[in-house]
Amino acid sequence: MKKILVTGGAGYIGSHTIIEILETTDCEVISADNYSNSNAKTFERIKNVTGKAVKNYAIDLCDGSAVNKMMQENSDIDGIIHFAAFKSVPESVDNPLQYYRNNMESLINMLAAVKEFNVPYFIFSSSCSVYGNIEKLPVNEETPQGAISPYGYTKQAGERVVQDFTCSYKNVKAVLLRYFNPVGAHISGKIGEVPLQRPANLVPVITQTAIGKMKETTVFGNDYKTRDGTCIRDYVHVSDIARAHVEALSYLEKNKNTSACSIFNLGTGSGVSVMEMITAFEKVTGKKLNYHIGNRRAGDVEAIYSDITKVEKELGWIPKYSLDDMMLSAWKWELNMKEGA
Ligand code: WQD
Repeated sequence: MKKILVTGGAGYIGSHTIIEILETTDCEVISADNYSNSNAKTFERIKNVTGKAVKNYAIDLCDGSAVNKMMQENSDIDGIIHFAAFKSVPESVDNPLQYYRNNMESLINMLAAVKEFNVPYFIFSSSCSVYGNIEKLPVNEETPQGAISPYGYTKQAGERVVQDFTCSYKNVKAVLLRYFNPVGAHISGKIGEVPLQRPANLVPVITQTAIGKMKETTVFGNDYKTRDGTCIRDYVHVSDIARAHVEALSYLEKNKNTSACSIFNLGTGSGVSVMEMITAFEKVTGKKLNYHIGNRRAGDVEAIYSDITKVEKELGWIPKYSLDDMMLSAWKWELNMKEGA
């Protein structure tokens, strides 16, 4: 494996994955990111962590000719990891067409490039939001899909596009990685999640409340049928997610895949409630969080967490960071951002 293209490389998971590739393999990495939900400072941070520069093509992946031009300049790409997509559940409900056009067109353009430029390996960034509301927990890769938001459906449909493509075009092998809830920041404290607007996700809301950027955290409902009434999710450290991508590339390169398009859940296998997240934050930081119980948030599923038997067995991937590690790394990064990191 010599050269990897990471689309969405300036994003939260993309940037952590680039760091993991640069630190654990001899691959060269290039990125394609138009900064629609990130900024160029990410690449300074990547260099600060790894000492290596990453070339970024600031192109719109919905522009097929721009994709082609980038691929012509890099006709030796061995693998593509496709993160680039809009990813806000509430925003997708308000702007479904924008989500379908952006997320589907960019994916189709990247797959067309895979064929045009003979790229042998393709990894697709999918999501547990393909499952929707779940009857039987934990979810495994065979659990029927039923996305309930336009965002989730772009991932469900995106998976199907990749699967159909690998059935028709035999010279590529693909892996679909379904992330549960990625949280936390790189252990160095030099890079992490950088929400461009007011964050919607729980962990950045908690850290921004604790540092004073937000007045208080609203817990969206405590009347669910869960052990403490608040929603349950499967939170997983972003660096564990990043490492899974390196394992997936190696899995394909060593021909360990049992099908042309393999699917893996990436979670910890355990569910944690909103209140348990707040308690964990207060415990590891010693800071009392200012929160109140509010109404339920539309689109929230009551509980979801993963069965990771398959990814442990086939990819040999086991998450290594604890909930405390997730919360402490998120808090350290929030403090460092305040200092201008
Ligand atoms: C988690 C829980 C909220 C904010 C995310 C991504 C989605 C997908 C899956 C990758 C929920 C509660 C939140 C707040 C709260 N990831 N909450 N107060 O909704 O599970 O989805 O992970 O594809 O793209 O959006 O994550 O962090 O928004 O919410 O009570 O201020 O925290 O109700 O129960 P979610 P989240």
